[in-house]
Amino acid sequence: MPAFAFSTDRAAGLAVDVLVLPVFEGPQAGPGVKDVKGVDLLGQFSATGAKGKRGESLLVPTAGVEATDAKAVLLVGVGPRDAASPDACRRAIGRVARQLARRKTVATTLPQIVGARDRLDAIQATVEGVLLGSYRFDRYKSKADDADRRLGRVTILGAGKADAKTSRDAKEAIRRGEVIAESQMWARDLVNTPALDLPPAELAREAQAMAKQVGLTSRVWTEAELKKGGFGGVLGVGQGSVRPPRLIELKYSGGGKGSPIALTGKGIAFDSGGLSIKDATGMEWMKSDMGGAASILGTMRAIALLKPKINVIAAIPSAENMPSGSAIRPGDVLRHRGGTTSEVLNTDAEGRLVLADSLAFLAEKKPRVIIDTATLTGACMIALGTDIWGAMGNDRDLIRDVLAAGDAAGEPGWELPMYEPYRKLIDSDVADIKNIGKRYGGAITAAMFLREFVGDVPWVHLDIAGPSFAERPGDYWPKGATGTPVRALVRYVLTKAGDAKA
Ligand code: BES
Ligand code: ZN
Ligand code: MN
Repeated sequence: MPAFAFSTDRAAGLAVDVLVLPVFEGPQAGPGVKDVKGVDLLGQFSATGAKGKRGESLLVPTAGVEATDAKAVLLVGVGPRDAASPDACRRAIGRVARQLARRKTVATTLPQIVGARDRLDAIQATVEGVLLGSYRFDRYKSKADDADRRLGRVTILGAGKADAKTSRDAKEAIRRGEVIAESQMWARDLVNTPALDLPPAELAREAQAMAKQVGLTSRVWTEAELKKGGFGGVLGVGQGSVRPPRLIELKYSGGGKGSPIALTGKGIAFDSGGLSIKDATGMEWMKSDMGGAASILGTMRAIALLKPKINVIAAIPSAENMPSGSAIRPGDVLRHRGGTTSEVLNTDAEGRLVLADSLAFLAEKKPRVIIDTATLTGACMIALGTDIWGAMGNDRDLIRDVLAAGDAAGEPGWELPMYEPYRKLIDSDVADIKNIGKRYGGAITAAMFLREFVGDVPWVHLDIAGPSFAERPGDYWPKGATGTPVRALVRYVLTKAGDAKA
């Protein structure tokens, strides 16, 4: 990992390998561009046809340019000046992060594209972009390619002279970006790991190792303990696999006696569909069906390191959904934690069955809110596409706060309605509730199923089936796991603790 520093030195006077400077749409010189004398940066940029749109970049060598100590300038398009935002920083630097990783020293003025109000968020986002954008998952490559792992130091340049408080705040923003990006990449690693190597027990081991490292309290429930505790949903989904289910409990105490924020995430090690089996293409990426669990684990990791003054608990159900002679069948009835029964008419609607147990378990603890994240429905992907998670819940304030946190963190969600007339679609003839509705509105009926288990606790469900796994690379993620929504959740928790603005 590179080291990050904050400085208010003049951009052109820094002896770094690459100086990254923003160009607004026009093209118009961004902060620092005019300080570089002796070379017409903007002229060269527009001579290539570049306009300063997001995604454009040009490397300009500066050998022999006397007034500039940097060896090269990398101009990056950041889009329209009036649309400059922390997310524009994350995306602009994320796009060139792999290129930067091949150099030893980098400096940038990028966060200066936003006004003072958003400056610290922009610094944090820039750090996140550098780290997330250079992420790779190469653990399974027999020949390591370390060519782009040289980056040693990144200097974030502030404008003008900084007083002590400005520097302190900037360093804090840098640290936040580092912790959050590292936690999100740790979550990506879990999701990218093949299901073969990450059965529920192994996910639990990873969680406990992490917990120990960062100072969280943890407990893992075995199959026998789950039986005693009445976790019929987790057990039922897991019973078709030879690799038994687990429940992972984590606890962060930073808020004294205050009631905690409760988190849970869907941890299906592999989703074959069970006896309601998926087809071959439908199964290709189902190692990623524990993306919700991974994002909660990553969030807890970041929280433990950032130490906000608030309590946070997590309970993560993990099971492998496999077809076999011991698997649950369509028509079976499961008894969940707390006693509610569900009729399983499709074993591929398994996420809600495991979350029912963890939601009921968390509701018992009287938390201030419950948030769950889950790769729950294809229907939500159809509704919102690949970049946006769906939010559904029983509490307006909580939904609003979580959406605001997502927007601020560059991980946006959108609310889908809990339209009451749809509730009857999950009425069951034989049990309290059934696990599928109709094809249409599938994201909503899934959320309504979950709602049955939270009692009167304010709760929001994030359906991350779309954004949790990318089938093509984006600005700061390669193909595969994105680690979404770690940034949004950490933001939410920090805001509630009073450590970040909404
Ligand atoms: N894990 C899937 C949802 C999913 C699909 C996530 C594609 C990411 C990409 C979930 O368990 C599932 O199979 N859902 C079914 C529900 C249906 C049977 C009611 C679906 O969405 O088709
Ligand atoms: Zn699933
Ligand atoms: Mn499924």
